[in-house]
Amino acid sequence: MAPTPEVPPELAGPRVLLTPVRPEHRDRLREIHRQPEVCRWWQVPDDDWPEAEEQDTVKYTVMEGDQIVGFAQWYQEPDPDYRHAGLDLFLSSETQGRGLGTEVVRVLCAHLIDDHRFHRLVIDPKLANTPAIACYRKVGFKDVGVMREYEMNKDGAWDDGLLMDLLAREFVR
Ligand SMILES: CC(C)(COP(=O)(O)OP(=O)(O)OC[C@H]1O[C@@H](n2cnc3c(N)ncnc32)[C@H](O)[C@@H]1OP(=O)(O)O)[C@@H](O)C(=O)NCCC(=O)NCCS
Repeated sequence: MAPTPEVPPELAGPRVLLTPVRPEHRDRLREIHRQPEVCRWWQVPDDDWPEAEEQDTVKYTVMEGDQIVGFAQWYQEPDPDYRHAGLDLFLSSETQGRGLGTEVVRVLCAHLIDDHRFHRLVIDPKLANTPAIACYRKVGFKDVGVMREYEMNKDGAWDDGLLMDLLAREFVR
């Protein structure tokens, strides 16, 4: 018998709801993904995003009320000797800077630590992404170090990244 696919749970914060990505979210998510304030920090979406299967990755649509305001995902390292999870997110330009990003990160970290029992989480913003780094530090992520020329940007140049990690006991709830 085939194993039952695991359906990710919805995750709620004070203002946001993270709900698993569904086909009807696609157009709005792609519209947000293409906003200059978002794709400056993320790659331009591939044609099959967000529906493409990515192993060990869970994708969420971020809702505020009945509005789609962003996207969040997490993945896990499958090797048990290096067990950890990584996360990533973006919010629409209109909803940035209102504390929603910090809320999304808190909700996801709580889920990964409390429900999945991860002891370590990672995130890797571009070094120049000051708002993102500030948001992650508020939740307890610490700088591990600069990854030089880590990620290619949309102009084909290499950007530095900042590896940050959070141990479960350091989580600022
Ligand atoms: C990064 C992102 C998720 C942060 O979410 P947000 O809701 O905008 O951020 P918050 O309002 O929660 O702010 C968190 C902290 O960031 C800092 N911050 C927010 N906007 C800032 C800005 N424009 N410049 C400098 N610092 C800023 C503040 O210190 C803030 O804390 P404070 O309100 O207590 O002072 C969101 O801005 C975003 O989606 N940006 C575009 C895509 C992106 O960069 N994704 C992350 C890739 S790693």
